[in-house]
Amino acid sequence: MGVKPWLWLSPSLAHKVTPTILRSLNLLAHNDPPEWKSLEWRGIHFPNRLGIAGGVDKNAENLKAWRGLGAGFIELGTVTPQPQKGNTPPVLDRDVANGALWNRLGFPSEGVRKVKTRLKELKRPFAVPLFANIGKNASTPLDQAHSDYIQLLVELRGLVDAFVINISSPNTKGLRELLKTEKLRDFLTPIMESLPADHEPILLKLSPDLEDDELERALSISHELGIDGWILTNTSQGLREGLNFPKEGGVSGRPLAGLSKEFLQKALGLLGSKREGKLVISVGGVMSSDDVEERLQLGADLVQVYSALIFEGPMFFKKVARAQCRQV
Ligand SMILES: Cc1cc2nc3c(=O)[nH]c(=O)nc-3n(C[C@H](O)[C@H](O)[C@H](O)COP(=O)(O)O)c2cc1C
Repeated sequence: MGVKPWLWLSPSLAHKVTPTILRSLNLLAHNDPPEWKSLEWRGIHFPNRLGIAGGVDKNAENLKAWRGLGAGFIELGTVTPQPQKGNTPPVLDRDVANGALWNRLGFPSEGVRKVKTRLKELKRPFAVPLFANIGKNASTPLDQAHSDYIQLLVELRGLVDAFVINISSPNTKGLRELLKTEKLRDFLTPIMESLPADHEPILLKLSPDLEDDELERALSISHELGIDGWILTNTSQGLREGLNFPKEGGVSGRPLAGLSKEFLQKALGLLGSKREGKLVISVGGVMSSDDVEERLQLGADLVQVYSALIFEGPMFFKKVARAQCRQV
């Protein structure tokens, strides 16, 4: 694996210092994003198929650095309407031997006002598409959750290329309940009805812990209500075998790969021709260039990483770009 000095730091210290290190990498910001397997979708140009997943740049602080490092698109957030601290520690851990991360952060967010200011300051065009991952405040009751998402969609309209509705985090009490059948319909209907005709695409991020029938219903209800695509998957509340992580919280990284691939294949099978014109993004346990290629071969339009950036480092995008360029 080579020398990875950031793995000598404790998980929480590494988490704290990373934004500072990345800010110094803003120096790379003038690099053009590497072009490989570029994609046009709904008028959005993706220079390549590999982006950063929700949670990596929660407050849109390092967008230029990620672009300079070679990300083909950037999902910022999860952003909440009001600032909130998230859960109290311990909230992060890692298992280097198994390439696994554990977290129960619970949407620490500086709130939408700060994120909006940062997005307004960016020079346009930005060279890579920006997605905003949006979530509710912990204090908002579940039956009022839609109002948080509507507020976030209004505040950030015109500042990003697409939105990701996050109701699949295991770390906000009750949130995943909203993915389940009739709750999903009640939650999504007012959100989709609130959108103007020329709204940015809206994607739904799914949990890998849904049962087969729940996945089928979540896909068909969200498709019926006009969702433009899906991100599969968030972290898992299972997968504890052989890992010394607490029961609560979510696991990501290599142990999630099998489940994430299974979900991608199941979802594509269930969607069939309904998938046409929609965007399908695979995330979960993508740890190498071969893994990126495998997800694309399985039918994903785009691929995202979080854990690989921790275990392989921020040059991961360049590594994948080199491998992709060797293939052509
Ligand atoms: C520390 C940490 C924080 C995360 N925060 C978020 C988040 O705020 N919003 C979100 O949608 N997903 C979040 N995720 C989930 C990732 O976006 C991704 O779905 C998951 O980690 C699986 O990908 P990976 O195996 O490449 O890490 C987080 C993951 C980790 C490890």
